[in-house]
Amino acid sequence: MSIGKSSTIGFAVMFAIVTLLALAACTEEGKPVKGFVLPQGDIAQGEQVFVDFNCHGCHTIPEIEFPETEFEPPFIMEIGGEVYRVKNYGELLTAVVNPDHIISPKYKAMLKQAEREVIISPMPYYGEQMTVAELIDLVEFLHAQYTKLQPEYYRGYYLTK
Ligand code: HEC
Repeated sequence: MSIGKSSTIGFAVMFAIVTLLALAACTEEGKPVKGFVLPQGDIAQGEQVFVDFNCHGCHTIPEIEFPETEFEPPFIMEIGGEVYRVKNYGELLTAVVNPDHIISPKYKAMLKQAEREVIISPMPYYGEQMTVAELIDLVEFLHAQYTKLQPEYYRGYYLTK
């Protein structure tokens, strides 16, 4: 067997192992949903849902003024704004219906700075009160809040934050 061929086989075996590990990781963390498509939502309605459910008690969104809330959370998290990778519909929907699935790295960093531990997301579970139509509009609204930044190009590298 030539060296070229064995290294191709070696690569194939490694690829298979990595794929299997990735699949195992997915099944451990819940049920990944493939082929999931949301119907078109209404952005303005979604903004109303955001306010109705008091999401603005814990979140700000650049350039949007929300009514005052009495609630004072220890941390205010910004959603949307200029980012290098826009969150997709699946991620936004998951953040609302299954907030503990992935705890936002930004939030973890905020807690670390305050020397507090992350255990679960402080986000309430909305599954009992929110209708599917509200959820669809909400996710449409959230998605519209992200603006994709072009990474800065520097001597052959793309710099991302
Ligand atoms: C009690 C405070 C609180 C409320 C109320 C709340 N959130 Fe959150 N939310 C958080 C915190 C803290 C995080 C970061 C931890 C995590 O990832 O769950 C977060 C994360 C998110 C994320 C992911 C952000 C990212 O950058 O990964 C989205 C999207 C989101 N919330 C949307 C909502 C929406 C929509 C509502 C209302 C239906 C809502 N939140 C209500 C506290 C809250």
